[in-house]
Amino acid sequence: MNPWLKIPSSEYEGHMSAPGVEQLQVLNNIFKNVIDEFSADSICVMGCTNGSGFEHFIGRNCGMILGIDINYFYLNECRAWFIEDLPEMNLICADLETIELKNNSFDLIHAALVMEYVNVEKVVEKISRWLKPDAALTVVLQLPSDESSPVSETEYESLKLLNPILKLVDIEYFIDTAIKNNLKLIRSFTINLKKGKKFYIGYLKKFLKG
Ligand SMILES: C[S@@+](CC[C@H](N)C(=O)[O-])C[C@H]1O[C@@H](n2cnc3c(N)ncnc32)[C@H](O)[C@@H]1O
Repeated sequence: MNPWLKIPSSEYEGHMSAPGVEQLQVLNNIFKNVIDEFSADSICVMGCTNGSGFEHFIGRNCGMILGIDINYFYLNECRAWFIEDLPEMNLICADLETIELKNNSFDLIHAALVMEYVNVEKVVEKISRWLKPDAALTVVLQLPSDESSPVSETEYESLKLLNPILKLVDIEYFIDTAIKNNLKLIRSFTINLKKGKKFYIGYLKKFLKG
């Protein structure tokens, strides 16, 4: 069983907003900025948890919002919170490594802190196919830290289950993999977090080989 299925959303949220971690609000702001910048009509959110940040879709009248997550309980919460305000939202409970979707479907795919849990080559290959030409991929990757372990220590025991499966993604390797799949980096920056942690944020676009 994937360890994510054993982490209740209350513990995930408690951990991510605990003093010294404080990543939930940072991820929410990143998501808002992405949505503001791209004003996309069809969007896929990979590893969407329980829809943290989906409130920024309200009132935008997107054509399609698709959230994918492996944890059915997170998606149930997301559905309960947003179904009335976001009738264009669809949620799929699936493993990103095995799910298949129609090619050329999305203007934007957002993948924040999920590449750490999947086979990057498999998932980037799919992202490239699922994006429309000239569409965007936005990623958040956790950078290595000398001060903190990849999964921060908090009072939430269930989060420790992630220790054996969280694999930090090397940025150069990620960009190389993206280029091999017709995705070109257009902008990147880092955000400093508590306890020496950092996020890398990359904006990429699908280009057509010519
Ligand atoms: C750190 S959280 C993502 C945070 C979220 N994207 C945000 O911006 O707030 C990782 C999420 O990815 C999901 N996940 C992990 N492995 C997955 C997989 N193989 N397929 C689909 N979802 C996965 C987990 O269930 C969890 O909800």
